[in-house]
Amino acid sequence: MAIADLRRDYNASSLNREDLNADPIAQFDLWFNTALAARTPGNFFRRAGVSTYKWFQSVFGKTSSEANAMTLATADREGHPSARIVLLKGVDARGFIFFTQYEGNKGRELTENPHAALVFYWPELERQVCVGGSVVKLPAAESDAYFQSRPRGSRLAAWVERQSTPVPDREFLEARYRKLHEQYPGAVPRPEYWGGYILAPTRIEFWQGRPSRLHDRFRYHKQPDGSWKVERLAP
Ligand SMILES: Cc1cc2nc3c(=O)[nH]c(=O)nc-3n(C[C@H](O)[C@H](O)[C@H](O)COP(=O)(O)O)c2cc1C
Repeated sequence: MAIADLRRDYNASSLNREDLNADPIAQFDLWFNTALAARTPGNFFRRAGVSTYKWFQSVFGKTSSEANAMTLATADREGHPSARIVLLKGVDARGFIFFTQYEGNKGRELTENPHAALVFYWPELERQVCVGGSVVKLPAAESDAYFQSRPRGSRLAAWVERQSTPVPDREFLEARYRKLHEQYPGAVPRPEYWGGYILAPTRIEFWQGRPSRLHDRFRYHKQPDGSWKVERLAP
């Protein structure tokens, strides 16, 4: 089938002004939890038994459970953009929290230009959330706490090499990893170049797919007094 002929009509749900919470973070929480629940067939079958789950996977393909995967767009000081997936690791009144390396491409861009954007896409729900704002580093104590909650292998991997640096081959990474295992037989400290960011939103848009591309879109825009103005946008 030609790519141009790929077409999906959206008819799972609708979004009305009266459905919206006055607080966009509360609205995000609601949609995020719905997205988590929508991705539970895998969990259901896992509970039902490994063989049932394997059968389900073989028939329907792998189920995804990464409702917290989001596209993070950044730009350098000249405005050249780049985007990649990172995982949402928390959301609160301050904003959207993710963890990464501070000295890789995105870290360098965020130092030059703190403006950033996030996009979530939950195809099961025919929903998209777009967020824009600026980032600040998470307090070091919170990065320490999260780093220490990660599996040992992930903690060691953070020390292997600075993110986005060219490396000669796979063996280079695995040899460094083995060496780190010996170097840190017990506790693994957090590298100072690894930590969290909070994206403090100034706009959040909720998009619900509708038939005939007549989608429902509502954008919250933060006002100078801290309140949120909500507008319906044309699809
Ligand atoms: C599903 C998924 C989750 C990811 N989660 C993270 C993450 O939480 N933090 C991170 O730094 N990179 C994560 N990555 C890797 C990034 O997409 C990217 O390759 C890496 O951060 C380097 O990006 P940069 O060179 O633009 O800095 C993830 C990739 C995928 C596909």
